[in-house]
Amino acid sequence: MSKLSHAQWSSRLTFILAATGSAVGLGNIWKFPYMVGDSGGAAFVLIYLLCIALVGLPILVAEWLIGRRGQNNPANAMADLAKSAGQPRIWMIVGISGILGAFLILSFYSVIGGWSLYYTLSSVTGAFSGQDADGIGELFNGMLGNPGLLLLGHSVFMLLVIGIVARGVTKGLEGAVRTLMPALGVLLLVLVGYGMTTGHFGEALGFMFNPDFGALDGGVVLAAMGQAFFTLSLGMGIMMAYGSYLGKEVNLLKTARTVIILDTVVALVAGLAIFPIVFANGLDLDSGPGLIFVTLPLAFGNMGGGVILGLLFFLLLTFAALTSAISLLEPVVEFVEERTPLSRIGSTLVAGAATWALGIAALLAFNVWSDVLILGFNVFDFLDTLTSKYLLPLTGLFAIIFVGWLLDREGVRQELQLGDTGAKIWTLVSRFIAPLGVIVVFVSSL
Ligand code: PFF
Repeated sequence: MSKLSHAQWSSRLTFILAATGSAVGLGNIWKFPYMVGDSGGAAFVLIYLLCIALVGLPILVAEWLIGRRGQNNPANAMADLAKSAGQPRIWMIVGISGILGAFLILSFYSVIGGWSLYYTLSSVTGAFSGQDADGIGELFNGMLGNPGLLLLGHSVFMLLVIGIVARGVTKGLEGAVRTLMPALGVLLLVLVGYGMTTGHFGEALGFMFNPDFGALDGGVVLAAMGQAFFTLSLGMGIMMAYGSYLGKEVNLLKTARTVIILDTVVALVAGLAIFPIVFANGLDLDSGPGLIFVTLPLAFGNMGGGVILGLLFFLLLTFAALTSAISLLEPVVEFVEERTPLSRIGSTLVAGAATWALGIAALLAFNVWSDVLILGFNVFDFLDTLTSKYLLPLTGLFAIIFVGWLLDREGVRQELQLGDTGAKIWTLVSRFIAPLGVIVVFVSSL
């Protein structure tokens, strides 16, 4: 069963690259800015940062620890560890709900991956050049209103993901992550530089970092927590699976700190790139999922070298989306592979096709099915809300409760290489702060 147990990351750096490849993606550059815009700005950012530090960090460490100890896929790892801790097998549900979450997320994630592909092409054809906000808005709405185009983008994106996962070359991507991620970072910084020339940078800074707590309510807090889980790829068994490849010598806390800082910086810089353009052009802050697609093309269309920068940006964004999407498909494929007689390729095709099919329902929500509502949400929003706001935090909550309360304390202390004070802080955080944080957010959102 434990197909994973023999494999190991070649070094701590490779592991950091892989985990960062999963964490940094559309969540940072597409989702974070529009959620900040929708939720009224700095108060959301502040709660998000608190959730990252007090809930995200311990849960990331907990998931890696479970994976490294279990040396198996998330469901089996949870089942084995529960058994040795004298707990019922039902804990494996934590692993299974993670796999379900990954499947649901990938279905709509791929739709946005398709947008990114389309915008890569649009930048080459000069579609942004000299456009004003209206022209760019029309381009975006034209894409949304065209189900055939969305289907094409979604399908090409899914095919790329399936191709890479089927060939099992996921790890071969590390070299690419190492060069392309920094390139994406540099491009974002160029865009921040552009934002500084718009004369609205200060306004953007204030919007992101000067909180107006009047804008806070339970819904905003829940959204911020959900985003913290989404952006760190938590609550999906993915980090558990990664942890199972991890050597004993790697310091989990330090590594988590590195990954989290990288992920958070990318999100904040993306916000700083986008909001000056929003203010400078009088765009709506709450443009929703379209925000980066109506702001950044404006910048590219009106700056020197914009065609090439736009092309590079959307290419790199697509690449970042791909590395995250691969990490989403991988656990679903492993699950199918272990439970059916299918080969690796067969399992990838089945898992990929199922995800693709669900993605079609998600993309129709922008046009033909815009009136089809589930509990008041269109299909796209329903999938996003169900996973980010409920499934992921709930799964993560059980993971941290398991590590904080049920695993042997001394063993965990040694594994995390903690001194006396560190052990006290870890106990406080893993037993109380992180689990209660999630629970309080849930309750306050009701
Ligand atoms: N963390 C990725 C992002 O921010 O784009 C998305 C993601 C990848 C979520 C993998 C969950 C996951 F398991």
